[in-house]
Amino acid sequence: LESGLARTPQLGWNDWNSFGCNVSDTLIRQTADAMVSSGMAAAGYRYVNIDDCWSQRTRNGSGDLVPDPQKFPNGMKALADYVHGKGLKIGIYSSAGLTTCAGYPASLNNEQRDAKLWASWGIDYLKYDNCGDTQGKSGQQRYTAMRDALATSGRPILFAICNWGTDSVGSWGPATGNSWRTTGDIAGNWNSVMGILDSQPGWMSYSKPGAWNDPDMLEVGNGLSDTESRAHFSLWAVLNAPLIAGNDLRTMSAATKAILTNTEVIGVNQDWGGRQGNRIADNGNSEVWAKPMANGSAAVVLLNRASSTATVSTTAAQLGLGGAASYSVRDLWAHTTSTTGSTISASVPAHGAAMYLVTGGTGSTTGTFALRGSQSGRC
Ligand code: GLA
Repeated sequence: LESGLARTPQLGWNDWNSFGCNVSDTLIRQTADAMVSSGMAAAGYRYVNIDDCWSQRTRNGSGDLVPDPQKFPNGMKALADYVHGKGLKIGIYSSAGLTTCAGYPASLNNEQRDAKLWASWGIDYLKYDNCGDTQGKSGQQRYTAMRDALATSGRPILFAICNWGTDSVGSWGPATGNSWRTTGDIAGNWNSVMGILDSQPGWMSYSKPGAWNDPDMLEVGNGLSDTESRAHFSLWAVLNAPLIAGNDLRTMSAATKAILTNTEVIGVNQDWGGRQGNRIADNGNSEVWAKPMANGSAAVVLLNRASSTATVSTTAAQLGLGGAASYSVRDLWAHTTSTTGSTISASVPAHGAAMYLVTGGTGSTTGTFALRGSQSGRC
């Protein structure tokens, strides 16, 4: 969506994966604090997002949504002010139906009213779900109505479509939202992450600056081992996915923090060229995923899906980097640089990935990029 927002994939956090319906003012404030104190804000994370279950069970007499007074005793405006005071932005959730997935009132037929209310609170981001649609309108109609309501709300509000890859969203999502879910819900286990990964290759062509495929929020540090979390984060980075952490930022381990704040991996995700990566080799449990970078380098993820260590390899030619006698290989997890002839290879642990930035040769991007001056829309 050409709204000036999400010129690179959005970075943030959302409560759903760890807390479900147990969202509150306290949780959001403490998470905003942790986003700053953990170094995540410095690494580029901006959005602190509230998911389902934030409102009362019914609209008030004038038809407005009302925050649950137990969960949000200070109201949403005061909370938004607090989050903004930390230099961060705040998101909220609704659905393109009569009820949210957890059964709370949602925004179908109330798009203008709700968008104006959120704008008056200082909301910066809307995740818009697909539950409660009982009126037979198409996804495109329902999401376009909210896009237009946000556009006239008086505030820039990032629009994250959450329709689970249904209704041919690839054909209308790029003109309607800043991102759109391509799948059902992720869960904190390796099979879920790999299942989602398998459905991503067909989506690549729809993705561009301002309009990203969303394979769902991160489960880094949420039921995955550290090795699995590194693989998940590496893959979501080359997919140009919104990087929305789903763990408890207040209690995360040093290892989880190091994964989420790896600015070399984040830099691949945030590359201004905005070309999504894809699977370029699939040899059973060994896969190679690669993303062309704006400066002509290639970001590559060597993935081992097997339950024991394996060697995973690719070549500069496969990465579109032919023609040089040697290449520079930056290891984005070890933070070391080496030189190679043409083979890029790693011994990868079970359920793990290596990730490199490979530079040299003819470059993989010749003639394919429209140069962009800045990433200022990201925040
Ligand atoms: C759907 C969405 C999830 C979450 C829940 C909340 O399942 O896909 O991401 O927002 O609803 O009820």
